Amino acid sequence: MEQIKKDKEYFSNLTQVKRFITECEQKEHYQDLKIPGNEYDNWKTDKHIENEYAKWIIQKSNCPSLLLNIPVPYKEMTAEAEQFLDRFVKHRGGWNPGWSSIAVHGQSAERTQPANYYVEEGIDTEDNIAPYDWTEIAKDCPVTVEWLTNSFPIKEFQRVRFMLLEPGGFIQPHSDFDERRMAAFNISLSNPDGVQFAQEEAGLIPWVPGEARAIDIGRQHCVLHTGTENRIHMIVHGKWADNFERCICESFEALLINIALNNN
Ligand SMILES: [Fe+2]
Repeated sequence: MEQIKKDKEYFSNLTQVKRFITECEQKEHYQDLKIPGNEYDNWKTDKHIENEYAKWIIQKSNCPSLLLNIPVPYKEMTAEAEQFLDRFVKHRGGWNPGWSSIAVHGQSAERTQPANYYVEEGIDTEDNIAPYDWTEIAKDCPVTVEWLTNSFPIKEFQRVRFMLLEPGGFIQPHSDFDERRMAAFNISLSNPDGVQFAQEEAGLIPWVPGEARAIDIGRQHCVLHTGTENRIHMIVHGKWADNFERCICESFEALLINIALNNN
């Protein structure tokens, strides 16, 4: 937990964050979503088409966030994360006040950066890189580990982190890739009032607690927390399992149906 220093720099950065959010809000979240062509019509019965359709959804649909059809035991997972609040590691310096994390799968609980970061910093050498594995906190997070292992469409986990954003905190606008594509998984464990997750040309992600979403982190995004309770999410990196494409296609079809229903 961090005492957020509300100095001149904090308020100047906060102004930038609010300006970015206002700009994002010019658009609805799914306003610029593309509609798939009929070449994907037979995705349910043809595995090759299913793979191509999933690729199109991830890279070409301009979808800012896709709610996955996976239930999340979020209350239990939040309680598991909350056991370790005093061990969370500050994320990205003073640039993002109130933002910290801890790894349940990774090189260790406190190693929250990717493996190459510790090589670049001279802490590890190329032939001395610790493998990604369940960390020392995993044994105290049985619901989280069970859910990740048996319900999430990833077969080889890299970093899996609980992410804490404290009241008054924010994550400044940034993009994690050069091109738009859904390249990260973000799971809302708690999502208290007063949190806004904005994406460039896509308004706000309509988060409710217990959602797993694939997120386009190629477009600029930021998070602002003006509420009073801790917000805990999880970010998952890893290699896709065999059922991943099916999950993406089914989830996207559900989104299209929802949009059609809301338009009528
Ligand atoms: Fe990001």
